[in-house]
Amino acid sequence: APRPLLKGKTVLITAGPTREKLDPVRYLTNHSTGKMGYAIAEEARKMGAHVILVSGPVTLKPPFGVETVNVESAQEMYEAVMKNYSDADVVIKTAAVADYRPKTVHGKKIKKQEGGQTLELERTKDILLELGRQKHHQLLVGFAAETDNVEEYARRKLAKKNADMIVANNVTEAGAGFGTDTNIVTLYKKDGSEVHMPLMSKADVARKLLAEIAHQLERDGLK
Ligand code: PMT
Repeated sequence: APRPLLKGKTVLITAGPTREKLDPVRYLTNHSTGKMGYAIAEEARKMGAHVILVSGPVTLKPPFGVETVNVESAQEMYEAVMKNYSDADVVIKTAAVADYRPKTVHGKKIKKQEGGQTLELERTKDILLELGRQKHHQLLVGFAAETDNVEEYARRKLAKKNADMIVANNVTEAGAGFGTDTNIVTLYKKDGSEVHMPLMSKADVARKLLAEIAHQLERDGLK
C-alpha cells in the first residue's frame, strides 16, 4: 500500500466540463470527460487525504470514499468551490470551466428563423483567479490546456493567478488532454523549476503530481 503522504489533509479537486445554458434544449460546453480530475481524486484518497470532488456533468462513477458535489455551470462550480475553500489544504483545478456563457438564458426554445444568428456571450467568473486572491494557507494548483506556446502561457498563468503550481498539457498532442486515458504534462512551479511527465496513464500523472504536492506541503511546513 502507498505511504499515506496526504493523511490529515483536505484536498479539493474540480473535474469535468461546465454546461452553460442557452435555452431549455441547448447549452455550451467542451470536451472534458473528468478522467484527469477523477484520477487525482482517487489517488489522493488512496494517499490518505479527505477528498472533496466538485464535478461538472460527466459519465464517470464517483470514486469510492470521495465526497462528490455535482454542479453544472461555471457559476455553480464557483459557489461550490468557494464554500469549501477555507477547509482545504490543497486545491487542484482540473475542470475545464467555460470562460463565457450566453448573456441571455431563454425560457423557451429559440425558434429557427431566416438567415444567420448571433449569440451574445458574457464572461463567467474566473474561479482560479479568485482562489489566488483569497489564498491564505492553501496550496493552489491550476491546470492549463494549451494548443501552442505552452510554457509561456503556463508561466503567465502561474503568476497572474497567484498559483503555486500549474500543470500544463498540450491538448493537440496524441495521447494528451481531453478524453484519453493518458496524458503528457509539464508541472511548472513557483520556484521556477519544472517537472516533465512523458506519456503515462492519468493515474500515474495523478500519483506523481500528488507526490510533488505532498513534498511541497512538507517543505512549507518546515518554514
Ligand atoms: O477531463 P479529461 O477529459 O480527462 O481532460 C483533462 C483536461 C484536458 C480537461 C485537463 O487536463 C485540463 O487541462 N484541465 C484544464 C482545462 C482548462 O480549462 O484550462 P484553461 O487553460 O482554460 O484554464 C486554466 C485554469 O483556470 C484551469 O485550472 C481552470 O480550471 C481554471 N479556470 C478557467 C476558467 C474559469 N472561468 N475558471 C477557472 O478556474
